[in-house]
Amino acid sequence: MRIAPSLLAANFAKLGKEVARVDSSGADWLHLDIMDGNFVPNISFGPAVVKTLRPLTSKFFDVHLMCAKPDVLLEPFVKAGADQIAVHVELGSAVTALLWRIKSLGVKVGLVVNPPTPIEQVRPYLDKIDHLLVMTVNPGFGGQSFIYETLPKVQRAFTWRQSRGLSYTIGVDGGVDFKTAVDCAGAGADTFISGTSLFGQHSLRGGVRKMRKLVKAASCLPANQSVLPA
Ligand code: DX5
Ligand code: ZN
Repeated sequence: MRIAPSLLAANFAKLGKEVARVDSSGADWLHLDIMDGNFVPNISFGPAVVKTLRPLTSKFFDVHLMCAKPDVLLEPFVKAGADQIAVHVELGSAVTALLWRIKSLGVKVGLVVNPPTPIEQVRPYLDKIDHLLVMTVNPGFGGQSFIYETLPKVQRAFTWRQSRGLSYTIGVDGGVDFKTAVDCAGAGADTFISGTSLFGQHSLRGGVRKMRKLVKAASCLPANQSVLPA
């Protein structure tokens, strides 16, 4: 089980302090949302900001690229300290080359699928990735409500991983709070990206501990064993 606070929900006026807070929170990853104002209708931050944050923590930097042309950004983010880079399957014919390029740069390879996109679209890439990220809101903004219709995709990703003997992690991103995280864990998710909910806690450390405890318990529920047709 991995808990990954999303920096998008941090106070940008004191980013360094916020990263230090994540560093001492017991979280596993720091999720970094990169938005280009084109693939999604919002802009966040770029490699220069990530580079300034890198010396502040040894946490795993999970870079989520919501960008129409991520190819030009891969090397800059690796140089800035990314440990993993995830690109969207909605980029279609560009995806294969992007995954190879990320791997060749020596970092972990992630693939993301948006709520309206059928999960079948990620299937050809499953043996080429380290991380599959199921968007549980439409990307672009923090603080949105979890879309429950995405949960069967998590179950499907879990079943495919088992039946093909693969080992990619299965993440959920968007509207993940203490309740929806439990539902995701029951469906087979093992990596929980949470912005608004975790950063909204008085104690981030307490929030991470609580979420970890809840999802650990939920992952043992029979729902986790449910098998959909592969
Ligand atoms: C949404 C981003 C998410 C976002 C999640 O476009 O990809 O990572 O930060 O934030 P919350 O937990 O607030 O939904
Ligand atoms: Zn994200």
